[in-house]
Amino acid sequence: MLSDNSTQISGPSGRLRRVLVNPEVPQEWLQALGPCTYELVQPHEHSWDHSTLLALAREVDGMITLLTDQVDEAVLRAGAQGRLRAVANVAVGVDNIDLRCARELGIGVCNTPGLLSDATADIAMFLILATCRRAFEAAAELREGRWQGWRLTGLLGRDLKGTSLGLIGYGGIAQAVESRAQAFSMHVLHHARRPTGLPGYVGELRELLGQVDVVSLHVPLTADTQGLFDAERLGWVRTGSVLVNTARGEIIDEEALAQALTSGHLAAAGLDVFAHEPEMSPALRRCPNLVVLPHVGSATHATRRAMVELACRGLHAFLAGTTPSNMVEGPGPTSALTE
Ligand code: GLV
Repeated sequence: MLSDNSTQISGPSGRLRRVLVNPEVPQEWLQALGPCTYELVQPHEHSWDHSTLLALAREVDGMITLLTDQVDEAVLRAGAQGRLRAVANVAVGVDNIDLRCARELGIGVCNTPGLLSDATADIAMFLILATCRRAFEAAAELREGRWQGWRLTGLLGRDLKGTSLGLIGYGGIAQAVESRAQAFSMHVLHHARRPTGLPGYVGELRELLGQVDVVSLHVPLTADTQGLFDAERLGWVRTGSVLVNTARGEIIDEEALAQALTSGHLAAAGLDVFAHEPEMSPALRRCPNLVVLPHVGSATHATRRAMVELACRGLHAFLAGTTPSNMVEGPGPTSALTE
């Protein structure tokens, strides 16, 4: 049981609502599901895989999932044969969920927008700083005993002040990167599918890529953005510039990126996300001018806990028959994917 509160949400037959929770979610973070009482189904981590998710989908009313859970058509259809009403994803990205199928089956989906913008923007800025100032290359020289001492022309990087930054996508994370970059006196432009009407908007991706020294990706992974940065579009990026990705790995063609880094077309790249996590492609591994982090954009205590709590509140709203503010897909027509 989640809460000792007396109010309970019950199903049509008076039974408690059952909620499947990814085993990684700490139980004490689930209090936001209250003030009602639910029956939690939280398998052990070692028995958690897609087949467990599929088998349990038909036995629960709601699910709290992570971005590593594939909530695909099979899972949703199994759920719909049972009593699944809603999925709450502890992530802003919902590319792990088959939204089209959820819409067709009338299964509500909510996510965690807004809360992780600052933490993720910090990591994007970290990657911009680390790539522009060659921090990891420099640290490796020192640690490996290759540093010959201070040299006038050693390890020269790029000033952030005056450097132009192009944000691809202009949701909450991109805007949080913009305010940080402006504090570093960078000149910031942005591109989004729909005109933002704001200063710095550039309607043509190619035009923006031809104008900036650093490109930072902030679009959701969808059929339209998968492989967006392929060899052709990487070719539109100015020679000697830097590419940073804190969104989703599949937005970049990693082979093409490795080639652009190897040829020197790109001076450097900073990646927090990869196409086949937790694997890193051998081609990328060989690139010395690449700074990498293992998908830690939102990984702070406060942010991750707030994300779980928002997911809980969204699920609770769905199961109580109301519309959560963080709804992505619901029994209604609304689609609120903004970041
Ligand atoms: C993290 O990658 C998220 O989508 O929340």
